[in-house]
Amino acid sequence: MNIIVCENYDKMSQKACDLITKTLKNNPKGLYSFPGGDTPLGMFRAFTKAVNAGEVDISQANYVSLDEWIGMRITDEGSCGHFNQVNLLDSLEKQFKNTHIIDGAADSPEAEKEKLNSFINQYGPLEVSVLGIGLNGHLGFNEEGVDFSSDAHIIPLAETTKKVMTKYFGNKFSPEYGITQGISQIMNAKTVILLANGVKKAEIIKKALKHPVTNEIPATVLQNHPNVYFIIDKEAASLL
Ligand code: PGA
Repeated sequence: MNIIVCENYDKMSQKACDLITKTLKNNPKGLYSFPGGDTPLGMFRAFTKAVNAGEVDISQANYVSLDEWIGMRITDEGSCGHFNQVNLLDSLEKQFKNTHIIDGAADSPEAEKEKLNSFINQYGPLEVSVLGIGLNGHLGFNEEGVDFSSDAHIIPLAETTKKVMTKYFGNKFSPEYGITQGISQIMNAKTVILLANGVKKAEIIKKALKHPVTNEIPATVLQNHPNVYFIIDKEAASLL
């Protein structure tokens, strides 16, 4: 495991961006997966800047989103798709070759799940999986007790996730389920980059890195990944 502790959020974001762009230069046709959430915003901005400045070419690369709240549309502010669209795709002056953003409001979530699997099967395995981490150690919406062998699936949201979700969209929506790439797809990624910042993530970062691997703390599975980077700020690293 590579643990990179950065001075602050901006340095963490830039470090992650540098690693992604370096990988893109070596593997310009790969499949790249980014998450939603607050954590990756700085990385999205740094990455957009690099692409728009012509420092890296994404025209042969493919893009997939990690997860989505069931019931929420790409146009719903606070959804992962909206976050991806506004903070990444709309800001890029050039686009990825193929892009798949999960639609949480699809008529058939089961069919939407299969579309996600098909896209990853067609263009994958993931070259880079960028992840945030939930306070309960979830990766995407792989919540406590998740089957580590699963591919894309629909899962009831954990209580911690439901408490935290109001920060994204207040009380406007109350999703009960999430749709997410599965742990097997994340673990098959050639490179995994987990980002975490702030003191509120210190406890779960300690557990993710030091607790024996268990599906009760899904992020512990990354201890078994051959090429994982924890890129975290000093506060998130404060209990290590
Ligand atoms: P956050 O969410 O980036 O908003 O902290 C992370 C997550 O729940 O995976």
